[in-house]
Amino acid sequence: MQQKIIILDFGSQTTQLIGRRVRELDTFCEILPYNKFPHDDPSVIGVILSGSPFSVYDDAAFKVDLANIRGRLPILGICYGAQYMSHIYGGKVESAGSREYGRANLESFDKENPLFRGFVDNSQVWMSHGDTITAIPADCNCIASTHSVKYAAYACTTDPIWAVQFHPEVFHSVQGSLLLKNFVVDICGSRQDWSAESFVDTTVAELREQVGNDRVILGLSGGVDSSVCAVLLNRAIGKNLTCIFVDHGMLRKNEFRDVMHDYECLGLNVIGVDASEKFLGDLAGVTDPEEKRKIIGRDFVEVFNAEAKKITDAKWLAQGTIYPDRIESLNITGKVIKSHHNVGGLPKEMHLGLCEPLKWLFKDEVRRVGRQLGMPEHLITRHPFPGPGLAVRILGDITREKVRILQDADDIYIRGLRDYKVKLKGDEARRVLAAGVPADMSEDGEIEVSLYDQIWQAGTVLLSTVRSVGVMGDERTYEHPVALRAVTSTDAMTADWAHLPYDFMAKVSNEIINKVRGVNRVCYDISSKPPSTIEWE
Ligand code: XMP
Repeated sequence: MQQKIIILDFGSQTTQLIGRRVRELDTFCEILPYNKFPHDDPSVIGVILSGSPFSVYDDAAFKVDLANIRGRLPILGICYGAQYMSHIYGGKVESAGSREYGRANLESFDKENPLFRGFVDNSQVWMSHGDTITAIPADCNCIASTHSVKYAAYACTTDPIWAVQFHPEVFHSVQGSLLLKNFVVDICGSRQDWSAESFVDTTVAELREQVGNDRVILGLSGGVDSSVCAVLLNRAIGKNLTCIFVDHGMLRKNEFRDVMHDYECLGLNVIGVDASEKFLGDLAGVTDPEEKRKIIGRDFVEVFNAEAKKITDAKWLAQGTIYPDRIESLNITGKVIKSHHNVGGLPKEMHLGLCEPLKWLFKDEVRRVGRQLGMPEHLITRHPFPGPGLAVRILGDITREKVRILQDADDIYIRGLRDYKVKLKGDEARRVLAAGVPADMSEDGEIEVSLYDQIWQAGTVLLSTVRSVGVMGDERTYEHPVALRAVTSTDAMTADWAHLPYDFMAKVSNEIINKVRGVNRVCYDISSKPPSTIEWE
């Protein structure tokens, strides 16, 4: 039986990150809303309680009865999780006065406690909380303190309960992964047998079981998720898989041709549909971002369904949905910022079953599975690209000419990122390697990767509602600027702008202005998310 850790989500920004860290320990885990613990699932070996934006005293704070878990399974409370257990088991939580935020060091910790096995003195941790624990429950011991936080961690003496007020899941908690390993492996007893290889073997067998000799349809987007999904299904059922790749006319330069070629080399059975006339026609004159997205979503469904219906004996629709798309995150605000259109939706009258073989994987795991399946590296390390494509990177209305300008500028930028090599050391090198980028580490701990591989996502935005004056040769120009965007991120929920080298920016800016007709100015977007978003529309 596949062992699993359950992470109960109390709404923290970093809950997904806890999940990724547990998976990095080759251990399967599921993130569930705080009140959805699967009490009758015998495969659960431990429970982690996440942080939360709430104080335990807020009326709206998420509260859960742990009586059926306590004593039965090991529990690790993180931040709010730690405060909540202290609060309900007789300790005390009070406002910290000012928020305890940022780096801190464990000035003392219990070296005998299994949670801290292998910890060095003064290990750096990351704090982020407005309340603080001022007394722990009577049956608990304090097991770590920082300069300003007395109860940085505590453990129960009667039941397998541990709690930390810092965030072991974030990168700035230097030994955070070790703490999670101590909990997941040593305390909960994980066998660490969740790997790309075991995933491929079991999923291929499950897919054969699920779909048998039926025909399956899959929408391809050129992105990593749908491509890996296709190759996995191809391995399981071969020619019974038919893939549909729709060109809406707003892909990157030559993308439709190149990706079709890649798919054919992978032996996939793909139908390429050039629907650019329809999409660009329906978008003509439309300037509102949400309106554009709606039209693209609607057209996509129409085109995809028309093609799918031609495959009359299909019984299943496969989708490259991955875990972060599905996690029922606790949306505290309930507001929609942008409507995303990733999938065509089921053509209802075809009565297709849904097949989502990647639904348990995080992005880095999808990439590992792709490598395990022998897919080419350029397909696997591709940056995410939005479903509506360049439409959300052209401000104002969309025309073929604007798409051409943006494709040309973007092509120069992206090729430049791939060609520019950087040497990384220490934490930076480890972060890039942990994300699955293949690179050899030299004896002095250095790796060489491209700028492209170092960042999460890059793209170019055409500010076609803006014009500015320039001079080229002896001629005055009055043309559009483009904005370059590059961000670092782990999940696209939050992102920071990438600090690209000046010599790289100078080279790319020159090349774009000299070669791309219609652009006379290049800007670099230095906004992080939040408060901005990654895409401009
Ligand atoms: P934002 O702009 O919301 O983007 O910060 C977060 C991530 O989602 C991608 N994105 C989309 N992906 N359909 C998609 O498949 C969409 O409509 C869409 N809009 C944004 C974006 O590129 C980034 O990776």
